[in-house]
Amino acid sequence: MALLTVHSFPDPVLKQKALPVKEFDEKLAELADNMLETMYEERGIGLAAVQVGVLKQLVVVDLKSGEEDISLREPRVFVNPHIVERSGETISEEGCLSVIEYRAEIKRAESIKLEFQDLQGEPRTMEAEGLLSICIQHELDHLQGILFIDHLPILKQKMVKKRLAKLAREAA
Ligand code: NI
Repeated sequence: MALLTVHSFPDPVLKQKALPVKEFDEKLAELADNMLETMYEERGIGLAAVQVGVLKQLVVVDLKSGEEDISLREPRVFVNPHIVERSGETISEEGCLSVIEYRAEIKRAESIKLEFQDLQGEPRTMEAEGLLSICIQHELDHLQGILFIDHLPILKQKMVKKRLAKLAREAA
């Protein structure tokens, strides 16, 4: 396994749209493994391939990412995921491994129904609510080149992006 570099705002790769996965081979499984490892290392609960510079519709999620006892972890891999049903509304604070030192309250659907494929290419369906639903919606946005800060009201968004870009320049 290898750790991957997580790109952060304003890296233009984060605005790219991911393409559907067509080959369910060993390389895909290895990428998913490396993404999980990177997510655990960075202490995130979700990571999209776009964030590591790979334009594939692949997302990993683990709400138990923070567990020191790795037997308690619950890694999930979603290939070519899309949301087919949304209901309700919920607002919660989000952060992102690609948006350093900033969190904000974002409105999402309360529960979702998701269709995706597993690493073998088998079609799957699942329903999610609460934090899992929020996390999946956040990660699927990445596949469309959308960050959580893109959901902020436009004036706040401009201000926040300007500040984050300045921080990134100073850190470079
Ligand atoms: Ni994110």
